[in-house]
Amino acid sequence: MRTPGVDRRTLLAAALVAPITARFDSAHATGSDLRAAPVPRRSPSLAQAAKARGLYFGAAVRMDQITDEPSLRSAVLRDCAALTPEIHLKWNSLEWRRGEFNFSPVDQLLDFAEAHALHVRGHTLIWERSTPDWARADIMKRRDWTLVSNHFERVLGRYAGRVAEWDVVNEPIDTQTGAQGLRRTVFQQAFGATYIERALEEARSNAPHARLLINDYGFDYDNPVDGDRRSALLALVRRVRRAGAPLDGVGLQAHLDLDKGPLAASALAGFLQALADEGLSLTVTELDVKEADVRAPLAVRDQRVADEARRYLDIALAQPAMRGVVTWGLTDRHSWLSQGDGDGRLNAGPARNPTNRGLPYDAALAPKPMYWAMTEALTSASPLTASARARAAVSA
Ligand code: XIL
Repeated sequence: MRTPGVDRRTLLAAALVAPITARFDSAHATGSDLRAAPVPRRSPSLAQAAKARGLYFGAAVRMDQITDEPSLRSAVLRDCAALTPEIHLKWNSLEWRRGEFNFSPVDQLLDFAEAHALHVRGHTLIWERSTPDWARADIMKRRDWTLVSNHFERVLGRYAGRVAEWDVVNEPIDTQTGAQGLRRTVFQQAFGATYIERALEEARSNAPHARLLINDYGFDYDNPVDGDRRSALLALVRRVRRAGAPLDGVGLQAHLDLDKGPLAASALAGFLQALADEGLSLTVTELDVKEADVRAPLAVRDQRVADEARRYLDIALAQPAMRGVVTWGLTDRHSWLSQGDGDGRLNAGPARNPTNRGLPYDAALAPKPMYWAMTEALTSASPLTASARARAAVSA
């Protein structure tokens, strides 16, 4: 594993935050829940900082965790204006066995969100990795779109008017082993490359007023793979728009990784502008930071994570078509980066780091330097109103 050099500024910054980190990290607890360390009163919450700039802030959550952990619930209510169900809306969570439906975690999450005036992002209708095995087998065997259209109708119909934004297709890009830049999913194999246009049309007919997105990762760094992925996504959205399919926006997952070298600052800014020029609105949908060197002192680690998040947000938030920022979880206590994915596939193997500290709050629900870096990035974003941001995305 690469050990990035630590420059003087990082060390200095780490020394400055050390007392705060130490104070918050002393909040060790013994029970299943931990009392949140206080956030200074004068500091705006992430939701407030975002709102002041015409943006929204949100996080991916799980309803069971919100129910079981009062401190998490408080942090969510303090900082979030929007929630993404981390797993509950995925097809394999809704219908693990054919015809047996599990809607209740989504229903509960929507009730919770509505009781507190929070928006819910619909994640996600089509994702290869969350398609149940029975559906994958059936799609490959019969190549019958009805299976997909029934799923869309059931989910979009049930939540009509309650979910304003959907990640219709998740992670369609694969420039390394894909076919013309598209991942070889069961959908791509059974229905061809235009399954994406078809999915968007299907979503539009079931959710006439929702904002429809393609959501993907791997656009952020200065390396050939990310460069190819930026080109492939751009080619895809241009194709989809030319075909007249109802695509309103792109979700940038932004799973940052300290092992990937520098962010591609100008290429990324140009990419975001090119997407905006297609009339698309943009959202950072799954921000977190994977660490590269967990042997460094805690304060140094936390500062590196914070700096990376800040660098990314400074680039992303300079783009007027940007609507909001969502982190993939709020606390290191529940991060897919540290805990794998539950089905033992994603993040399995040596890349997984059980102590990753890549989210705004630590495991004891104390805000870390990433929290303050995000507050600052949001606060220093250009003060566009929400309507100016909507105008920047022509189709919004
Ligand atoms: C992950 C969840 O965090 C895990 O709990 C789940 O088991 C697998 O999926 N990109 C996405 C998210 O779009 O849906 C993934 O979430 C993380 C990567």
